[in-house]
Amino acid sequence: MDKILEVKNLRVAFRTTNGTLKAVRNISFDLERGKTLAIVGESGSGKSVTSKAVIGILAGNSIVEGGEILYDGKDLLRISEDEMHKIRGDKISMIFQDPLSSLNPIVKIGKQITEAMLLKSKTNRSEAKKVYKQTLAELKRNMIAAEGAGSEAKVNALCKQLDEICVEATKLEKDYTDSVNAANELVGDMDELIFLAGKKQNCDPVASVKDYQKRMTQVKNDRLTAAYAQELTEADAALATALEVAVQAKGAELKLPENAVENLRKVQSLLKEIAEQQKPDFVEEVSQQKDPYFMNEFMESATKGVEYSFNRALAKKKDVLAELPALRTFFEGDFTRAEAQKRCKEISSTIRESIDRLEIIKDSAAYAFESSLSDAIDRFFSYQANNVKEEKRFARQTKKREALVARGKHVEWKVVPKNVYSVDMLRGNILTVVDRLNERYTAAVEAASQMDFQQRAAGIVTYLKQRGAETVHYITPGMAREKAIKLMEEVGIHEPRTRFYQYPFEFSGGMRQRIVIAIALAANPDILICDEPTTALDVTIQAQILELINKLKAERNLSVIFITHDLGVVANMADDIAVMYAGKIVEYGTADDIFYDPRHPYTWALLSSMPDLETTEKLDAIPGTPPNMIYPPVGDAFADRNKYAMKIDFEQQPPMFKISETHSAATWLLHPDAPKVELPAIITNRIARMKKAGGEQDA
Ligand SMILES: Nc1ncnc2c1ncn2[C@@H]1O[C@H](COP(=O)(O)OP(=O)(O)OP(=O)(O)O)[C@@H](O)[C@H]1O
Ligand SMILES: [Mg+2]
Repeated sequence: MDKILEVKNLRVAFRTTNGTLKAVRNISFDLERGKTLAIVGESGSGKSVTSKAVIGILAGNSIVEGGEILYDGKDLLRISEDEMHKIRGDKISMIFQDPLSSLNPIVKIGKQITEAMLLKSKTNRSEAKKVYKQTLAELKRNMIAAEGAGSEAKVNALCKQLDEICVEATKLEKDYTDSVNAANELVGDMDELIFLAGKKQNCDPVASVKDYQKRMTQVKNDRLTAAYAQELTEADAALATALEVAVQAKGAELKLPENAVENLRKVQSLLKEIAEQQKPDFVEEVSQQKDPYFMNEFMESATKGVEYSFNRALAKKKDVLAELPALRTFFEGDFTRAEAQKRCKEISSTIRESIDRLEIIKDSAAYAFESSLSDAIDRFFSYQANNVKEEKRFARQTKKREALVARGKHVEWKVVPKNVYSVDMLRGNILTVVDRLNERYTAAVEAASQMDFQQRAAGIVTYLKQRGAETVHYITPGMAREKAIKLMEEVGIHEPRTRFYQYPFEFSGGMRQRIVIAIALAANPDILICDEPTTALDVTIQAQILELINKLKAERNLSVIFITHDLGVVANMADDIAVMYAGKIVEYGTADDIFYDPRHPYTWALLSSMPDLETTEKLDAIPGTPPNMIYPPVGDAFADRNKYAMKIDFEQQPPMFKISETHSAATWLLHPDAPKVELPAIITNRIARMKKAGGEQDA
């Protein structure tokens, strides 16, 4: 299982004038690569706060009381705004309920889509260059170490040659990409001209076609000219004809005669054919030319280097594992801040050495260990100091109020409730960081014997090639426009070329949401967070948007977090479902677990209030209201509204009971001593119906 995002023990509170509101109370979940996780719950359950924490846009009065959000070797709760800015939109994108809130009303749609693309292009290039250099240097270090004394000259020569090959390949790549881009841009510009001429809007076909002729030379690089000599000659001829026709027609009513359009279309299809051919592997090509045996030789040495780096890190991982129990015991006992930070520093230096820097998918638990632990330690002390202050304030205010009341005064104000943190919770924050790394490293050590170093080395060379190529990828406004138009088509906007030049108010709600999705996808993110993306839309449009998100997820291998208050919405799209109530996850499982085997009374209530086509029973609205989260209940937060509640539900919070590998729920009903409770009839009936429908589909 490949986790792209992990949220562990997240706690978020908000300072308000009435006290501290506990919005998210210790939730954990994983997002698997390429999967959809739905977070479902009533209004106020903490769904949006959770997603905002992930992309780092919590309100100013928020307090992150604990937890980690791990992504790509980082803990997103502990990185700088600069770093977060690179991730937000680029790697993790978000769409909100109200599309208008994400759109600038006075900027044309096209510009809003292209802006993001143009902005990112330059930073991506320099980032790629940096990563390329670092990775090659790291590889070289390990190759030398692996091959032993005296290998330096040989390895240096190998790496130098690879670098030269990459540089040369990059030049070819740039040349080639320039031509392909020029071809694509020409195709787009011709579309634009045909479009404008059709509307008889300001355009000058003669000048445009002359310009195209000039730009044809940019398409002709050596490789393409050799491979497409015939096509290019035909294209030149067609352009010449188009120009002739356009010149003759000048002044006539039709600005671009049919004949010219036909010829332009012909040029377009020739150029498209050229632009759409499979991109060559330039590194392979150059290295073959220079020395057919080079790559083999390099790979042999690289494999040794990769193995060396892996094993060295593995040995250190074992050292770390040996030290963790003592560290855990230390944090279970009494300690001062200085002692704790010293222990944190010490182990972190071993952990840094235990990271295999040649690993392409980074292990966030290791990379973020020091910052997470150090923060948890700081919070351990500062929140306890805060407790003391809070107690004093509370006592002071209470005394003051009581004194006033005793004097018979009418007191308007209330005492703001105490916001004190339990030492157990603060310690738990620390222990989680330790336990998680323990879990990770244990698994890594177990998996080590299966490692295929040849494959790993090949992976790194591919990675180098990709970063090398990225250093020359750039995007011009014309290309951004064509990409945006493709994207608009992808999200189902008809006549994108017209729509490109319109303002948000010229779109319907559903179309606007499609645009927002296009903007969210512009940077090609890994993760898409959808916060009630269909709530503001009517039912048929809702279904279309859901279908679109599903389609994009599959095509782009996106990982999706889908937030909604309506279980029905996610029935056909979620792989996993987290049911949230009062800032906690009360049930977690696969979609099948939740729909066919729900265990928490709150999940039952959600299922009961979910309409389906054949419901004959009266739908149960969930009675009562969620608790005030400034005073979270001591027991199960749902107890007040739960007709199955037992005494203990009002006294103690239920732990997460594990039902299966994938399924768990926090309700005392799962305790071995709890009375057996029958599922409500409305749900058993529904499950029977779903099973029947499913069975028919399978048959
Ligand atoms: N900036 C803030 N200041 C104070 N309280 C806040 C703030 N933002 C959110 N909250 C509170 O946090 C709790 C969780 O809010 P959140 O927006 O996550 O709910 P939600 O599950 O997304 O609900 P909805 O379905 O209404 O969007 C609510 O009680 C809300 O009032
Ligand atoms: Mg919300």
